[in-house]
Amino acid sequence: MTKRVFSGARPTGRQHIGNYLGALRNYVALQDEYDCIYCIVDIHALTSMEDTGKLQHYIRETLLDWLAAGLDPEKSILFVQSHVPEVMELQTLLGMVTPLSWLLRVPTFKEKVKTQPENVNYGLVGYPVLMTADIILYKANTIPVGEDQLPHIELAREIVRRFNSRFGDTFPEPQAKLTEFPLVVGLDGKEKMSATLDNGIDIAATTEETRQRIMTAVTDPARRYRNDPGHPEICAIYKLHEYFSTNEKDSIAGQCRTAEMGCVSCKKLLAERINVELAPFREKRAELAAKPQYIADVLSDGAARARIIARETLREAKERMGLI
Ligand code: TRP
Repeated sequence: MTKRVFSGARPTGRQHIGNYLGALRNYVALQDEYDCIYCIVDIHALTSMEDTGKLQHYIRETLLDWLAAGLDPEKSILFVQSHVPEVMELQTLLGMVTPLSWLLRVPTFKEKVKTQPENVNYGLVGYPVLMTADIILYKANTIPVGEDQLPHIELAREIVRRFNSRFGDTFPEPQAKLTEFPLVVGLDGKEKMSATLDNGIDIAATTEETRQRIMTAVTDPARRYRNDPGHPEICAIYKLHEYFSTNEKDSIAGQCRTAEMGCVSCKKLLAERINVELAPFREKRAELAAKPQYIADVLSDGAARARIIARETLREAKERMGLI
C-alpha cells in the first residue's frame, strides 16, 4: 500500500517564505510518491486567535498559496479541518489515554503560557492531542514538518503506542519527515519566521513589498558602519541568500566578510533573487484568486474525500474502546 502523508498549516495569514522553504516545497514534491492529505487546521488556529473575524479570509489565502505553489487537488486531498468534525470526536477519545503531565511538558505549550498568559485555555493544552487526531484519523505514516513540530510528533507516537497497547493494534506510529531547510529565521534575526511574529515575507507579497520588508531586516549587529567586516553566519539576510542565491552564496559571504559588499546592496540582491524565484507563483496565485467557485469546489471535494476515511477510522476506534 502507498504510504500516506499528512500535514497541516494553521490559517493565521498568508504563507511566508519560511513556510515555502520549510514545508510547502516539500509538500509539493511528496505528491508524486505518496498518498497525500493536507489540512488547513482552523480549529488549531482558535487556540491562540482571539479575533476570528478574518478566519475565513485566511483559510482562502492559505489555500491559494498552496495551489499556486503546486499542490494539486487531483493528486492530494486538500481540506479544512473543521469540515471533517470526526477529528474532534477522536480528540476526545484520545484524551482518555493521554496523561495531562505529558501535555504540560510540551515546549510549545510552555511557550504559550508565557506569551499569552491571559489565554491559557483548555484547547491549548489539548493542541497536541488534536494534532494526533488529525494524523491518525487518516492512519498517516509520514508527517512533513519543521523542526519545531518534533515534540508534537513524538507525543503523537506516544499516544498511539498507549492506545494500541491498551485497545489492540489500531494506528500506525507516525514519523516526522524533516525538510532540508527545516527552520527559517525571521527578518528580526532572532526568532523563526512566523506569521504571528510578523517577521517574515509573504510569498504572495508584491515585488515592492518584498523589497521593503527586506530593507528593514536586521543584519549582523556588529556591522555598524559600511566598512565594518560582516559575519554572514549570524545574519538573517545571508541565511536567505543560502536558499535563494545558491550559486553565489560563497561569493556573497566572502564579500560580506571583507566589507566589499555593504548590507544595502546585499539586501537589494536578495530581494531581486526572491522576486525572480517567486514570479511564476505570484502569477498563478492571481489567476486562482479570480476563481472563487473553483476554490470552494476544491475544499468541498477535499472534505468529502477525507470524511470517507475519517468515518471508517473513527468507527474502528470506538469499537476498540468498547463504545460500539
Ligand atoms: N501544529 C502544526 C503547526 O503549527 C500544524 C498542524 C496541525 C499539523 N495538525 C497537524 C502538522 C498534523 C502536521 C500534522 O505547524
